[in-house]
Amino acid sequence: MCGITGYTGSARALPVIMEALHRLEYRGYDSAGVAVEGKDGFFLKKVKGKIDDLDAALDGVEIEGTTGIGHTRWATHGEPSQKNAHPHFSIDRNIMLVHNGIIENHDRLRDRLPEDIEFTSETDTEVLVHLLSENYDGDLTEAVRFTLGEVEGSFAVAVVHRDEPGRIVAARSGSPLIIGCGGEGNYVASDLPALLDFTNEVIFLDEDEIATIDSDSITVQTIDGEERKKSVNSISWDAVQAQKGGYKHFMLKEIAEQPQVLRQSMRGRLDSEAGIVKFPNLELDDSIFKRIEKINLIACGTSYHACMVARYWLEEMTDLHVEVDIGSEYRYRSLNYEADREMLVTVSQSGETADTLAALRKVSRLDVPVLSICNVLGSTMAREADDVLYTHAGPEIGVASTKSFTTQLLVLFLFSYYLGRLRGSFEGDRELLEALEQIPDQVDQQIRDREIYQKIAAEQFKKEDFLFLGRHLNYPVAMEGALKLKEISYIHAEGYPAGEMKHGPIALIDEEIPVVVLGPHSRVYNKMLSNIEEVKARGGIVLGVCMEDDKQGIAEMCDYLMPVPDTEELLTPFLTTPPMQILSYELAVRRGCDVDQPRNLAKSVTVE
Ligand code: F6R
Repeated sequence: MCGITGYTGSARALPVIMEALHRLEYRGYDSAGVAVEGKDGFFLKKVKGKIDDLDAALDGVEIEGTTGIGHTRWATHGEPSQKNAHPHFSIDRNIMLVHNGIIENHDRLRDRLPEDIEFTSETDTEVLVHLLSENYDGDLTEAVRFTLGEVEGSFAVAVVHRDEPGRIVAARSGSPLIIGCGGEGNYVASDLPALLDFTNEVIFLDEDEIATIDSDSITVQTIDGEERKKSVNSISWDAVQAQKGGYKHFMLKEIAEQPQVLRQSMRGRLDSEAGIVKFPNLELDDSIFKRIEKINLIACGTSYHACMVARYWLEEMTDLHVEVDIGSEYRYRSLNYEADREMLVTVSQSGETADTLAALRKVSRLDVPVLSICNVLGSTMAREADDVLYTHAGPEIGVASTKSFTTQLLVLFLFSYYLGRLRGSFEGDRELLEALEQIPDQVDQQIRDREIYQKIAAEQFKKEDFLFLGRHLNYPVAMEGALKLKEISYIHAEGYPAGEMKHGPIALIDEEIPVVVLGPHSRVYNKMLSNIEEVKARGGIVLGVCMEDDKQGIAEMCDYLMPVPDTEELLTPFLTTPPMQILSYELAVRRGCDVDQPRNLAKSVTVE
């Protein structure tokens, strides 16, 4: 996810663009840049770092130009660096372009360009600007229309050309783009927060639409050249509200983004018709995945819970021995590694967590192959591991991991499937992949209705202890539910494998303790039913997470029911997780807690 902005009007463009970029920083913050029309061509400034770093680099710069574009980046292709920052430019520097999204066929498009074009970045975006330059024949809108017709993937772009001063051409397909219409000119941006300091009159571009934006006019057409009449909407939000996309908290926004980021993370990685999973950017040699006998998964906190789920997937789909440990423990263990028979996988949203990084470094020194699964491109783990698989969750602002966790689950599931097929221990299962493709829509449906969670919160928010129980694949989800609840609501919570209840925690149960029980259809369904009976017999309050069509008993026994759509057993963690997130969120809100920045916690734990 990146942030795009542009302005053309009567005011100086640079301050307008910088203000808008600050408002979009939540969409990405690893590098940024601006291009503004000047007397002798475009003024261009790009930096690695945040918008504040771009501000610092622009200190003392006075540009009179009244048209320009800007970008804040969340890297997907090519590490965060000055050269990979946008805007990208044509060889003659006549065209400047900013892009949000992924150009899936960038390699093929590159083959169409003259061989002597020298690329200056590692991005998928740069190919677009060179193609535009090739296709330009005096009409920028036409060149954009023609060029985008060849692009596969998702994009939003804003482009300016030196020969068409005062004009921005913007287009979208798969990534959002909004046009602002104001007294001092017209604007374009990825999201409302960038516009609301200047205007609240906006046009929402629809899929495959191209806008030609001049200081006093806006025309819109489709990518097929058909003219479109667009209505102007008046927005009543203020800028702060809008940064959260209208959501009260970033955490809620990020919960709601899960369908979109899961789709994004699946893109290009699974072919359900063929029943195969592929990782186009994975460079570790397949011979390593075939020869190893043991895989070690290391992480902290929520990421550790994702590894715990993955253990069941790996054991189900491969013949590997699987070990899962917490970074802070693993780093001090005496490890008896067999370098040619094992590999390490570290899982981390930030790619910077000190304990996971220490484990990675310790094992790297033993010549053991290391794969990192992380969200932040170019992070230390991504650089120090032998290879990396990105989760593509986009920036997560709320301290509590939500979309990071579900995208980690996705990549770990796909990786398990991939290894299983590669090693010949798993044939593949088209139906399973088809069911996986349904997950984003199912999550979408699931998170729309928060009424039951609000009811639970209203009735249970004064409780000081919660117990979370699950078995098999849903035992780690119970652990994750307890972690979410304690970190944002400060309610004491324990996550337990349900079978362990009788070995101790059952002593806690009385009429005061809410017990969250994860009971989707599965091989352990009847065992969970027995656990619920044990809780009920002692007066406990049961909050059940079970399937919408549950007819075998769990639903009937619950005091509250948090429904999940039906899916394959192996995929249930994707659908039992959102109830954990929303339940914690609603309880925390009801208790008046600072959901996005809970006390004592930091988003990235870079110290031991
Ligand atoms: C909980 C949470 C933390 C992180 C942990 C590891 O909501 O966010 O438990 O999961 O600090 O962080 P990463 O994944 O960045 O290594």
